[in-house]
Amino acid sequence: MRKLIVGLFMILLPTLGLAAGVAVPLDSMEPDHTNKESLQRGAATFANYCMGCHSLEYARYKRVADDIGVPVELYEENLIFNGAKVGELMKISMNKDMAGSWFGSPPPDLTLESRLRGEDWIYSYLRGFYKDESRPLGVNNVVFDNVGMPHVLVDLQGLCAVKPAIGHKSSVDPLSGNIRNADVCTEWALEGSMTSAEFDRAMYDLTNFLSYMGDPVMVERERLGMFALIFIVIFTLVAWLLNREYWKDVH
Ligand code: HEC
Repeated sequence: MRKLIVGLFMILLPTLGLAAGVAVPLDSMEPDHTNKESLQRGAATFANYCMGCHSLEYARYKRVADDIGVPVELYEENLIFNGAKVGELMKISMNKDMAGSWFGSPPPDLTLESRLRGEDWIYSYLRGFYKDESRPLGVNNVVFDNVGMPHVLVDLQGLCAVKPAIGHKSSVDPLSGNIRNADVCTEWALEGSMTSAEFDRAMYDLTNFLSYMGDPVMVERERLGMFALIFIVIFTLVAWLLNREYWKDVH
């Protein structure tokens, strides 16, 4: 019995670790790797706004182009800016040591970021920047306190003057009928070119793309899984029939 209790405790241990990691409330997002349009928009945003600093160095351009359904020539023309060949790994030329001294810490590679932090975290982080004059770059992040990354999407989102309400579900105020937390930000210091809903959508696509990056074979795996299950069902049936046939004459 004691062994059983210790065993159960050991099984539950990792969940304690998980619980410790989630200190800030997050908005959730459900990735969909079959939504190619979303992945394509995410890849475009990543190439335009993120790849100056972050590499995806465990992936190759060609594989990504094939997976998200962009013809290789189109991908090469529009989404590769550093003259790399499509067969190459998605590296960047930024010097990590120098970047470290510019930003406080170097921008990490993001190929496996969705595995490390999870999609909810990335989706919330990208929407979590706000104005904070006490920081060297004038911005902070509700999900990643004292972040070294600049708010690179400020043109699109604008700059929130207060802490955005990440992780607070919108609800209807019973007295006034107004919707609370309809928008993550209640006061803007700078207007962006997108509305909040458009920006959320763009960040959904970008997170979806990073989610695909962390698990590029998910769609294929699920498809194969279906076949494996169908095979097991048919095989069980055959094995059962065979078993019945063998034992038919044994009394
Ligand atoms: C100007 C350079 C720069 C650009 C452009 C940039 N980042 Fe960053 N990013 C950083 C730096 C520096 C850090 C490390 C921050 C720290 O550790 O304080 C970082 C950290 C991150 C992290 C958190 C990594 C972790 O787990 O610690 C994510 C996620 C991220 N960036 C995503 C993006 C995305 C998506 C884009 C494009 C929209 C982007 N970044 C554009 C510099 C940049």
